[in-house]
Amino acid sequence: MEARVDVAVIGGGAAGLMCARVAGARGLRVLVLEGANRVGKKILMSGGGRCNFTNTGTAPENFLSANPHFCKSALARYTPWQFLELVERHRIAWHEKELGQLFCDESSKLIVRMLLDECARAGVRIETQCGIERVEVQDDGAFAIDGRFGRVVAGKLVVASGGLSIPSMGASGFGHALARQFGHALQPTRAGLVPLTLSGRHLERLGDLSGVALPVAATCNGQTFRNAMLLTHRGVSGPAILQISSYWQPGDPLQLDLLPGRDALALLQRWQRERPAAELRTLLGEVMPKRFAQRLCEHWLASRPMRRYLPAELQAMAATLREWPLVASGTEGYRTAEVTLGGVDTGEVSSSSFESRRVPGLYFVGEVLDVTGWLGGYNFQWAWASAHAAGEAL
Ligand code: FDA
Repeated sequence: MEARVDVAVIGGGAAGLMCARVAGARGLRVLVLEGANRVGKKILMSGGGRCNFTNTGTAPENFLSANPHFCKSALARYTPWQFLELVERHRIAWHEKELGQLFCDESSKLIVRMLLDECARAGVRIETQCGIERVEVQDDGAFAIDGRFGRVVAGKLVVASGGLSIPSMGASGFGHALARQFGHALQPTRAGLVPLTLSGRHLERLGDLSGVALPVAATCNGQTFRNAMLLTHRGVSGPAILQISSYWQPGDPLQLDLLPGRDALALLQRWQRERPAAELRTLLGEVMPKRFAQRLCEHWLASRPMRRYLPAELQAMAATLREWPLVASGTEGYRTAEVTLGGVDTGEVSSSSFESRRVPGLYFVGEVLDVTGWLGGYNFQWAWASAHAAGEAL
């Protein structure tokens, strides 16, 4: 292949396809170079196969970045309602789960199909299995992209190659390496929205409870998420843990409120008054999974009939139930992480056009940038919004 185009987009994921569609619709000749054997693999596997494609509550506060202001402009200019309008125009049935999360009724495939239809209508050309070997800026400012496919020369280049999560799905550090090649700084990367692992006696105490789930409020570094926790054979997962994992780093204290929304001390005092002969573990087993309550009483709280606790002991137990210390040893890493924290530093990228301030004509969109959303459709909304902004500015 020997091609000359206005815009080459590296990566045919959520951001790449959205950007290509918007730029193509403006009359630009756009070529998407996808490394994997098909586009949109992460969209396909997202949301348990139903793609949680946006969140109606999307706000800048739902994102982590070294520069929390960077995401504001794009999010304001392309809202969840605009993406929803696109979804509805393609007659894709959807539903809202809890907390503003919108999912397809049927399948994530419909979102990929929608993006492909939009790209086709906009005249976008898409090539898969493009192993890119080299990208250089020519004397005329255009980008020469070489690979097994031959040479593509593009007036502008959009890097939409995503983060490092799930390498088996095509994730690569390509975008980060390219940014570095062009002199861009990177914020350190690590796995986000990822299960936490336990080790040593912590794993011994909890590992065999794999499959047990309970509501918690997980707190770390000033952030709290109230949702379910799931015990796994390696540690802990579930939405509350995935969310807080993005705020946790090895060594950071992590506390769980095991009775979220309830006043633990008032509950213990009530039990002491109303059911003085009942054992703590029995009563706890009425408000949380029995096996978990049992384990708590074996290792963290001494179970006795309620009448035998002193007021100070009730207070100490309430504190443990409110701020149960979870000692995680690490995360499951990129193998299972939904996102990559860190990435291309936003300091040298325009927050309105997404163009590099170092290299004219070079753009970064989506997860390759140092902007990471919470669990719940925020990451796709970032992909759509950043890509839409770039697509209009190209
Ligand atoms: P994305 O990863 O989508 O696309 C990058 C593309 O670039 C890929 O197609 C990749 O193959 C390609 N590529 C990589 N290297 C390349 C190279 N060298 N050359 C050419 N192409 C290259 N978010 C959300 O909001 N709701 C959800 O329900 C979920 N669910 C979910 C489940 C799972 C299992 C995962 C792993 C992730 C999610 N996410 C999510 C996160 C969401 O998938 C993610 O944030 C977006 O896909 C990011 O969009 P991008 O386009 O930036 O990267």
